[in-house]
Amino acid sequence: MTSLDQLHQKPAPQFSEATLTLLAHLKSERLKINTPNVSDNTGGFLFHLIQDRRYRHILELGTANGYSSIYLLEAILPEKSGHLMTIEIQRDTYMRAKTNLHTYRDRVTLVCSNATEFLKSAGDLRFDFIFIDALKTATLEHFLIARKLLSSGGTIVVDDVVKFGNKMPDFYEYLEKNSIKYSIIMTDEDDGVMVLEWLC
Ligand SMILES: C[S@@+](CC[C@H](N)C(=O)[O-])C[C@H]1O[C@@H](n2cnc3c(N)ncnc32)[C@H](O)[C@@H]1O
Repeated sequence: MTSLDQLHQKPAPQFSEATLTLLAHLKSERLKINTPNVSDNTGGFLFHLIQDRRYRHILELGTANGYSSIYLLEAILPEKSGHLMTIEIQRDTYMRAKTNLHTYRDRVTLVCSNATEFLKSAGDLRFDFIFIDALKTATLEHFLIARKLLSSGGTIVVDDVVKFGNKMPDFYEYLEKNSIKYSIIMTDEDDGVMVLEWLC
């Protein structure tokens, strides 16, 4: 298995012209609607992690306009059973993502809901990769519910844990209190993602 640091060093994923055009469109949209998307470095890291571990069933909390979803979807395209479920609380943002992700419609389920409320009644849904990128102050709440839905050998990744670490002190305290190990990968100069492996 490739180490997280090695995955971080990998070059940017090679996308088709159509995918690059779609990403560029969402980037320009981001400026208009003021949506904070993942950086391309973070997207690339998520892509390589998912491909390396051959994860297939992905859950994302916080869709926004679908920028990070594209990286997640591109990573699972070679896997026949690969599927992404992504949850967004704001209706207009959800509608925008639905349009933006139309070409992936067979591989993605978009949900417009509060992630916690929706996942509480998720029944026997299970995911092997969960990306948490919603309301930063609700990170602990989202982590606790995500953990229950994680398959054995799965991974949870949390975005913005450095820049917005001050918005999630309860999350860091919980990890410390419960001796939960994690790695922080500095995908950007001023920010990074937290990778939690071996949770179950
Ligand atoms: C940082 S943005 C997500 C960016 C996206 N992952 C990307 O990189 O393209 C956070 C999004 O989470 C949504 N959000 C906030 N709280 C939420 C919740 N409780 N459930 C679902 N979505 C939520 C916000 O409306 C916002 O669109």
